[in-house]
Amino acid sequence: MTYTTRALTPADAPAAAALHALGFADPWSEASFAAQFADPAALTLGHLEDGAVIAFALFRDIAGEADLLTVATHPARRSQGLARALLIALTQTLAARGTARLTLDVAEDNAAARHLYASLGFTEDGRRKGYYTAGRAVPVDAVLMSKSLQG
Ligand SMILES: CC(C)(COP(=O)(O)OP(=O)(O)OC[C@H]1O[C@@H](n2cnc3c(N)ncnc32)[C@H](O)[C@@H]1OP(=O)(O)O)[C@@H](O)C(=O)NCCC(=O)NCCS
Repeated sequence: MTYTTRALTPADAPAAAALHALGFADPWSEASFAAQFADPAALTLGHLEDGAVIAFALFRDIAGEADLLTVATHPARRSQGLARALLIALTQTLAARGTARLTLDVAEDNAAARHLYASLGFTEDGRRKGYYTAGRAVPVDAVLMSKSLQG
């Protein structure tokens, strides 16, 4: 598997939005990604193959706490460690710049993402009842998770 890894820019917004639409029932727009990728508080990393974005992750880092806003891997390329590599690299960057804590939320029924986050050291802090509704007949809880980068 040969791919390159780099930060995404507003020029990558169409590719990011297209990939996001393959993974989420309520995908973000190109304009949302363009704004995020231009925001100095955002930290992004993507894997690209033959010019196409095959996986990317986006944190928002404010006041020492970075929230994982989204992460997605192309359906044909899942379970190959692509998201794990992105999250490890981004965590290293955030730790080096002094970020104290990472946070995220994940749908209770998202087994792959929950497995990935737990294996990277995220632990559950609480729940937001019935938070996820898009594309679902029955609302699903958000599981709130965090990981300390200190000590
Ligand atoms: C979640 C997501 C980003 C993971 O991307 P990925 O590149 O496949 O992730 P990785 O291969 O690095 O790791 C996935 C892990 O989950 C495991 N996994 C996959 N499906 C699983 C399932 N149904 N149950 C439990 N674990 C599962 C894989 O085996 C792998 O673990 P391992 O490294 O210990 O073998 C991808 O599934 C995706 O894009 N989903 C749609 C969007 C989404 O849900 N994003 C997260 C929102 S919080």
